[in-house]
Amino acid sequence: MAERGILIAFEGIDGTGKSTQIALLADYLTARGYHVTTTREPTDGPYGRKIRSLFASRHHLTAEEELALFMADRREHVRDLIKPALAAGKVVLTDRYYLSTAAYQGALGHDPARIIAENEKFAPIPDLVVLLELSPAESVHRIQDLRGDSLNDFEREDVLAAVAAIFAGFEMDNIARVDAAASPDQVHRQIVAKVDELLV
Ligand code: TYD
Repeated sequence: MAERGILIAFEGIDGTGKSTQIALLADYLTARGYHVTTTREPTDGPYGRKIRSLFASRHHLTAEEELALFMADRREHVRDLIKPALAAGKVVLTDRYYLSTAAYQGALGHDPARIIAENEKFAPIPDLVVLLELSPAESVHRIQDLRGDSLNDFEREDVLAAVAAIFAGFEMDNIARVDAAASPDQVHRQIVAKVDELLV
């Protein structure tokens, strides 16, 4: 294992199966002897909890306040978990990271490029971004009909379409686009192929 660990971020709109795929990849890597840390944003820390409590009532915040909360949550996440885990040589799998801020708060009117630049001042750039791609209509179907959840303010189809359009426009070299409409096992195999390229 290198002195510095490996950072893999999972991104995509809601309902793409990020948490399922993170669990499958964590098992795969652990079985191969890697030390894996899985984590997520919004975090379970004070800012993340505040964000979750606001999900159903997003309009109580201005776009600036919302962006500030996600940024504060990320600063804490990077400082307290991501950087120490990478320094310890771990493989860190995070369910969402700063491209979510660029896409979701970008859809609210902020400039995605500026959000990315602000984040890259303090947040390690991922070695790999697994971008799970799914149509907004399928996303809404999975959340409502399969998971049985009602849609929160982030999950309305028009909001998700705007978010998906921003995700679709990203051109960074570290992004691996994966078709999330396939079966969980097929999606896992696509992801493993990308991760194996990184680990050789
Ligand atoms: P999600 O991963 O759906 O959380 P969980 O399923 O654990 O409740 O994330 C919650 C929402 O937060 C999701 O709709 C996307 C949104 N989000 C942003 O708007 N900006 C961000 O920077 C992040 C990390 C998430």
